[in-house]
Amino acid sequence: MSHAQTTHGSALVAPLRARRPGPLKGGARVPGDKSISHRALMIGGLAVGQTEIEGLLEGEDVLNTGRALEALGVGVTRLGSGTWRINGVGIGGLAEPADVLDFGNAGTGARLMMGVLAGHAFTSFITGDASLRRRPMGRVIEPLREMGARFISREGHRLPLAIVGAPSPLPIRYRLPVASAQVKSAILFAGLSAPGHTSVIEPEPSRDHTELMLRHFGAKIQVEAAGDGARTITLVGQPELEARHVVVPGDISSAAFPLAAALLVPGSDIRLPHVGVNPLRTGLITTLLEMGAEIGLENPRSAAGEQVADLCARAGRLKGVDVPAGRAPSMIDEYPILAVIAACAEGTTRLNGLAELRVKESDRLSAIAQGLSACGVAVEELKDGLVIEGRGRPPKGGALIPTRLDHRIAMAFLVLGLVAEQPITVDDGSPIATSFPDFSALMGGLGAPIEAP
Ligand code: S3P
Repeated sequence: MSHAQTTHGSALVAPLRARRPGPLKGGARVPGDKSISHRALMIGGLAVGQTEIEGLLEGEDVLNTGRALEALGVGVTRLGSGTWRINGVGIGGLAEPADVLDFGNAGTGARLMMGVLAGHAFTSFITGDASLRRRPMGRVIEPLREMGARFISREGHRLPLAIVGAPSPLPIRYRLPVASAQVKSAILFAGLSAPGHTSVIEPEPSRDHTELMLRHFGAKIQVEAAGDGARTITLVGQPELEARHVVVPGDISSAAFPLAAALLVPGSDIRLPHVGVNPLRTGLITTLLEMGAEIGLENPRSAAGEQVADLCARAGRLKGVDVPAGRAPSMIDEYPILAVIAACAEGTTRLNGLAELRVKESDRLSAIAQGLSACGVAVEELKDGLVIEGRGRPPKGGALIPTRLDHRIAMAFLVLGLVAEQPITVDDGSPIATSFPDFSALMGGLGAPIEAP
């Protein structure tokens, strides 16, 4: 894979500090959507022919997926900034990798690829960084075993693990115990190699980028309501996937950080063009509007089956709200930055139904609670939620926050540093490169410098 590599994974410790700037002004293009980028590479690799991807996120997580595909025999070439050509080998066409596949920090990369590998009859070994090696893989292993794949893993279904793909994968009908787009996608990817219909029943709708992109490449997928808000996604197995052109929209989960900074730093007014606004990803926007935020979604349009818009945000007063548990899947990665916003709003914010945050890149419930409390915010950590007391003015700040190998914890507390009375430092900014390699430069361009202390 022809690309200059960064050094995340070799644990470069690089502290970053944010202090109060003047108002944020102007516009900036946020990096490509991480979820869609992983899927574009994998589905492009399983299609027949040359897929060209524009706007691919060139963060470490996605680059690791590209390296893994290359090790499996897919042609992966960087043509220019964000533009990549994938020479797909067709479903069933991957080859046994000569070495361990290392997904770094990326749960999505590892879990989705386990689904792909479950349908290929050879042995692969998968690992990741210290954060990924702590994360549970049983939720993917269980359905993929039912489909005929075999696994040997560490205690508690942790990485590293070995996977032996099924020579004749079986289609299954599987009810997800928790809403997870990663598990749903892994099953659908394995189902590509199985004959007949593979169905996943999800208790609550989770992001549907896999379904939209598989359709874009020619697969047949049906989605039906299954009562009580649940839905059934059914894939017709063994399709002929044909190479396609993919335009990756900006990542709303990355846009959330400059957006939050603009809402919180007095006098700010910014515009973030071409951000993905898939309705299963916009829970944060819904919540911020309820809090009284001035946010606009302009020029709505669609790109490769995904909805896109320009996001505008202006600073103003915000009030605390109760966020229902049912909204969690549509804003699952946005809770760290929402908690920071809630800490600056007026009144109490209750965030419910967040048990899944304990098994993200870090235990985010505890990382948020400890970090906010170190910055002088009154916060209560529940088993599966947070209660945050906002006082309608900036918290004290002045703390050193442990990043815990978690990009979103680092970025959320740096944004808090832009409003807090005293600067906030995160001990290691290097994980930010997994999803938002130009974070500091982009924030600096909007007028909010984030620098080494
Ligand atoms: C993702 C799904 C979510 C999300 C993750 C990306 C995806 O995880 O937190 O960052 O791309 O499918 P879960 O499926 O575990 O909820």
